Amino acid sequence: MSVIFPKWMNSLPPVVAIAAIGGLATVVGGFWYYVTPKFWRVGYMPTQPGGGFNHQIHAGKLGIDCRYCHSKIEISSEANIPPVHVCYGCHAEPKLKQLESPVHKEKTEFVRAAYAKDEPIAWNRVHKLPDYVRNFPHNIHLAAGVSCYSCHGQIMGMPVVFHAEPLSMSWCLDCHRAVRDNDHPERFLVPKDMITKLIAVEGRLASPQDHAAEADQLLKNIKLTPPENCGACHY
Ligand code: HEC
Ligand code: HEC
Ligand code: HEC
Ligand code: HEC
Ligand code: HEC
Repeated sequence: MSVIFPKWMNSLPPVVAIAAIGGLATVVGGFWYYVTPKFWRVGYMPTQPGGGFNHQIHAGKLGIDCRYCHSKIEISSEANIPPVHVCYGCHAEPKLKQLESPVHKEKTEFVRAAYAKDEPIAWNRVHKLPDYVRNFPHNIHLAAGVSCYSCHGQIMGMPVVFHAEPLSMSWCLDCHRAVRDNDHPERFLVPKDMITKLIAVEGRLASPQDHAAEADQLLKNIKLTPPENCGACHY
């Protein structure tokens, strides 16, 4: 039971201890709420406002790098959603040849409408960890050579983003342990210059045995041992 009531709790003032137990109750409540059935979020695909945003067209066909829009992802824990002026840069008036057709004009009208009103587009969030999980650090994972593909699936093939991976605790820990133990980390890590090249990454991770010899090289990007202690991911 040392996991539930660790020794450090003995030295806490009672009020803090009660708060900690309250926190634990929330975690236990969260367990029943979020985990039954276990992977309910895989496949979750909320509809998006207006004409939506098509990653297959923009990131796949047009080849726009993820970081053009999710621009803070390498310097911040949070992956920002681009503000409407980023869309407007291309969709202001159909200056791009592909956008001249009436169909495209109509489909992208909501972008110009939002820009004119100076209002953000109300995108529906797809991936969301429960509140009892600490701020998830995107920047640290990317610097370590973990591709978006490992956690979000083949976004370049998604007309509408859906939840491709469970993002459950055991799923986080499977990767952390493999990297810590040098247990075929080539199943999870890619060279850093590849992290947003999702088609190439998919091919590479489909046959990790071809890259086993690169394991030591890949591990050189790791700065700290991926954590397993509760406090690293929970409040
Ligand atoms: C031209 C801008 C643009 C580019 C390029 C782009 N995205 Fe996005 N992304 C968005 C917008 C806008 C949303 C919010 C709407 C949605 O969820 O579809 C979004 C949403 C997402 C989400 C879901 C967020 C959530 O709510 O959980 C993921 C994951 C994502 N993008 C990953 C990627 C990856 C990976 C790439 C590169 C392969 C990429 N994006 C390229 C604009 C972009
Ligand atoms: C770098 C330029 C560029 C940026 C930035 C960009 N788009 Fe586009 N978008 C295009 C082009 C080009 C097309 C037409 C592609 C085609 O059909 O081949 C397009 C097509 C679309 C369409 C029509 C899709 C369909 O189903 O046919 C929508 C809707 C759209 N964009 C919304 C957005 C939104 C929302 C953003 C901002 C998050 C955005 N775009 C950012 C260039 C851009
Ligand atoms: C190690 C796993 C992992 C990797 C790698 C990863 N993500 Fe995420 N991503 C997550 C998790 C977990 C969340 C939900 C975070 C939360 O709820 O705090 C998320 C959320 C997002 C969101 C939604 C953020 C919001 O506030 O609405 C976007 C956009 C996103 N990721 C884009 C990307 C892109 C682009 C890449 C690659 C450049 C990437 N992610 C790489 C795990 C990952
Ligand atoms: C595909 C592999 C992979 C997955 C999946 C993954 N991680 Fe990690 N994580 C890593 C690696 C590698 C590191 C070590 C990075 C370093 O220190 O260089 C790390 C480090 C961390 C850190 C420590 C950051 C720091 O400040 O040192 C936290 C916190 C973390 N991960 C949380 C999570 C959570 C929460 C999830 C699940 C939602 C998750 N990770 C899923 C590979 C992964
Ligand atoms: C690498 C990050 C990470 C570490 C380390 C971690 N957790 Fe979690 N934990 C998570 C994530 C992410 C979830 C949310 C899972 C979900 O939404 O399904 C979670 C969920 C939970 C839950 C809810 C039930 C469940 O299993 O999903 C409990 C209870 C929990 N963690 C306790 C712990 C304890 C106790 C420790 C230390 C032994 C710990 N966690 C260490 C990331 C982590």
